[in-house]
Amino acid sequence: MRNGSLQTIDWGVNDVKHLLDMTSLETEEIHEILQRAEQFRTGKVIKSPEMKFVANLFFEPSTRTRFSFEVAERRLGYEVMNFETSSSSLQKGESLYDTIKTLEAIGANAVVIRHQDERYFEPLLNETSLSIINAGDGCGHHPTQSLLDVFTIQQEFNEFKGLEVVIAGDIRHSRVARSNASVLKRLGAHVTFSGPSEWQDERMSEFPYIIMDEAVERADVLMLLRIQNERHSTKCNASSSYLESYGLTIEREKRMRSNSIIMHPAPVNRGVEIDTTLVECERSRIFKQMENGVYVRMACLNLLLQNAQEGMVV
Ligand code: CP
Repeated sequence: MRNGSLQTIDWGVNDVKHLLDMTSLETEEIHEILQRAEQFRTGKVIKSPEMKFVANLFFEPSTRTRFSFEVAERRLGYEVMNFETSSSSLQKGESLYDTIKTLEAIGANAVVIRHQDERYFEPLLNETSLSIINAGDGCGHHPTQSLLDVFTIQQEFNEFKGLEVVIAGDIRHSRVARSNASVLKRLGAHVTFSGPSEWQDERMSEFPYIIMDEAVERADVLMLLRIQNERHSTKCNASSSYLESYGLTIEREKRMRSNSIIMHPAPVNRGVEIDTTLVECERSRIFKQMENGVYVRMACLNLLLQNAQEGMVV
């Protein structure tokens, strides 16, 4: 870990910490986030008395990420600035750059941004003293989703070495698949993909594909993905035929290993990638992932914004 904190981008005047993608986090930093998330889960970390302002900018729809960031920010005692894109000066043509510079000028300390463009943050990095937390960039990355998934898997299995993880569905358009596959491999898991051939991703050709009938028998962790219709040039009319070919049916769930789990970043299309009755079955950790998202986002905000001595363990 560098200087006991998250990845620091040094732009010459100040050290500004950002959380942009999983590849720029060192393995030790990932473990530090997971450890801090566990401290928040078990109530072992006190919040900082220092006033901090965090702005949430969501240019794409979100329920889980947006509101779990807001809960995390409030639990940490931060002031929350919820930015409504539809009623902001973006509607008058203001750029993202000028929006960020404005938030910086009026005293924000960090921005949480979800945006439709991959790597939207690159032109901002050397231009602002705000910490940027990427809450999803197009088909690019979703680092806090990945961290909460890793946290959930660690809770379940304690370690990653030798774990069989199958990520299934619309791999090509999924920032969750991209963020998770490489980090889980780095942590020692064996990662395989499953899904329609037209949604395979040449950028991740190192991961082999298997059919769903094999996936259910192999996986310790079966991670299902939503069909990302908003990123397709033609809409996929997914239906029960998708479920039968590529999804988790009741018959397939019966062939899963006794202690294997089902995950999904959600929102879930019940009856498409998973039979509706399995969403809340005993194996499912889908709502546990959402609960863990608050602790992981508290950990990320805390490690990005607080000085080391402020994150006191009580
Ligand atoms: N998993 C996830 O990012 O959900 P939202 O789109 O609702 O934030």
